[in-house]
Amino acid sequence: MKIVVIGGTGLIGSKLVQTLRERGHDALAASPKTGVNTITREGLAQAMDGAAVVVDVTNAPVWEDKAVLDFFETSGRNLLAAEAAAGVRHHVALSIVGSERLPDNGYFRAKVAQERLIKASGIPHTILRATQFFEFVGGIAQSATVDGEIRLSPALIQPIASDDVVAALAEVALASPVNGTLEVAGPEAIPLDELVRRFLQATKDTRKVVPDIHARYFGDVLNDQSLTPGRNPRLGAIRFEDWLVLQAAR
Ligand SMILES: NC(=O)c1ccc[n+]([C@@H]2O[C@H](COP(=O)([O-])OP(=O)(O)OC[C@H]3O[C@@H](n4cnc5c(N)ncnc54)[C@H](OP(=O)(O)O)[C@@H]3O)[C@@H](O)[C@H]2O)c1
Repeated sequence: MKIVVIGGTGLIGSKLVQTLRERGHDALAASPKTGVNTITREGLAQAMDGAAVVVDVTNAPVWEDKAVLDFFETSGRNLLAAEAAAGVRHHVALSIVGSERLPDNGYFRAKVAQERLIKASGIPHTILRATQFFEFVGGIAQSATVDGEIRLSPALIQPIASDDVVAALAEVALASPVNGTLEVAGPEAIPLDELVRRFLQATKDTRKVVPDIHARYFGDVLNDQSLTPGRNPRLGAIRFEDWLVLQAAR
């Protein structure tokens, strides 16, 4: 089966292409680096030719509020139009758990806009919402650092290894469309400040983490429901501690 992975050269996309090929599928890694651009539409119609499934794991190059919204709206519109023209039978997209619960986060607003376009497209689809990747924890620390100190909410977060996201995404891409949303999260919920403290300790980073219930996460104050999944999420198998050990070994 021909499966086009839009964003197929990125963190998730490159592993997904490999997984799908290992299972015997004709997986195409589509991105500007391979001549397929969802903003300019370069190479898009050609990439869709004969595709049964399209998986959208693109990411915006710039995360400023307007730029990221423009990216996901334009990319989504162009991609869905090309899929409709080619008769694609299943559109799969990777989104984020809790996007609609954090309205002051411009990136999350853009993901909600991306989801809205998919739901209105009429194309059979499955939206898989994942929690934050372990690979993103360093970025969270960076974004919350002021004068060498990191203030973070102790609200629960349930992050996941990118390998577990890829496994769930491959399963979804090979199944029938659910015309709805599924969730996938890591195996354990951890207070956000503690998660970052463990990451810094493992990476021998001496910055201090201060718990602060008022600290904002990319614009929003968090509670224990903000970043954790709802009922019956799929759960990844890889624990954060084990992932940290693996990263150190690499
Ligand atoms: N980070 C998290 O914690 C998290 C959690 C849940 C969901 N997600 C979602 O996961 C998705 C994938 O994230 P990621 O970390 O794998 O992203 P990434 O590593 O930054 O990769 C982004 C991909 O998008 C491609 N791309 C950029 N502009 C494009 C365009 N105009 N046309 C086609 N492709 C384009 C890039 O292609 P080039 O390599 O050619 O530039 C690259 O392949 C995102 O949608 C994100 O919202 C992330």
